[in-house]
Amino acid sequence: MPRASVVLLPGDGIGPEVAREARAALELLVPDVEIDEQLLGGAAIRATGEPLPAATLEACRAATAVLKAPVGDPEFDAADVRPEQGLLALRAALDTYANLRPAVLDDVDVLIVRELVGGLYFGASGVRDDGTVYDTCEYHPRQVERIVRRGFELARARRGKLTSVDKANVLETSRLWRRIVNEQAERYPDVEVEHVLVDNAAMQLATAPQQFDVLVTENMFGDILSDLAAAVTGGLGLAPSASLADGGAGLFEPVHGSAPDLAGRGVANPTAMLRSTALLLEHGLGLRDQARALSRAVDATLEVVRTPDLGGTATTAEFGAAVREQLAVDGATAVPYRA
Ligand code: NAD
Ligand code: IPM
Ligand code: MN
Repeated sequence: MPRASVVLLPGDGIGPEVAREARAALELLVPDVEIDEQLLGGAAIRATGEPLPAATLEACRAATAVLKAPVGDPEFDAADVRPEQGLLALRAALDTYANLRPAVLDDVDVLIVRELVGGLYFGASGVRDDGTVYDTCEYHPRQVERIVRRGFELARARRGKLTSVDKANVLETSRLWRRIVNEQAERYPDVEVEHVLVDNAAMQLATAPQQFDVLVTENMFGDILSDLAAAVTGGLGLAPSASLADGGAGLFEPVHGSAPDLAGRGVANPTAMLRSTALLLEHGLGLRDQARALSRAVDATLEVVRTPDLGGTATTAEFGAAVREQLAVDGATAVPYRA
């Protein structure tokens, strides 16, 4: 039987601090897991000159799943080679086009399905002779179709409502997006579909998030709306994500960044990273019971232990330890991984 192999990318800033807690929880839940730490982002640039070293990419390709802490460091703000380039290259190389960003609190249960390997992030960019700087937003119909279908499938498995977010009143790519959503809708008659323009979607998310089930949208809109969804459901410290390909290793990472303002202080909230670990257990390793156990332990811990972002005084390490204690209290059975 193969062991589960997980590549852990501790990243930058608060990354290593939250990664440590995720690693400890993962080892407790899956004792025979093989965890391989690799460099990505600023840490990788410092060590090798590259934000995504070949060894890291090779390890990620071979892994069952990848658990990634945030990358990014102000040290590289003006540099030609930036930590974030490593992350984008990794997402592209693994073709993790479907980025699932759940935001849940009380009566709000939203799932943002963000296209992750296209659009403005990957279009041609540069500087013209006259000094004009440009980034271009491009989508091939196939790129739109595969993410839209993911959105429909996920909506079908949830409450049956899909909100497609675009800017079809202005953008060509959004008109393509809307046409493909309408075409695919015929294959999913059980899913209720609506189109909402992105500016209105932001307003609706801020004021009446309960109305949404699954939102499907392009890369940049999804980036912005997922921070907003996190903010209305308890903050960035809580929001996890799963980035999935069609087969191959998935990439699991918090929505938040490396929080340079908190780095090195040991006070970052590890919840988003721990919840990303739960998504890895479920979608990456197929260990649904362990995923549930971890989610429940994190939720139970949040009732009594809070880091400063949630008004408490707990440190990152104290929160992580409390989650592990809770797992023990729950009698969460650590079972060996079987592929
Ligand atoms: P950020 O998400 O790092 O921080 C925004 C705010 O949220 C800050 O006030 C921060 O203290 C707070 N915050 C974030 N995570 C938290 C946590 N776990 N616990 C408590 N508070 C938390 O966004 P930013 O400041 O705009 O970006 C900083 C760097 O992170 C940049 O270099 C950016 O490119 C990078 N970034 C990386 C990722 C990623 O690797 N996926 C995601 C977003 C941003
Ligand atoms: C995120 C981040 C990244 C993105 C950056 C760091 C490239 O903001 O994962 O949300 O924009 O996708
Ligand atoms: Mn973001």
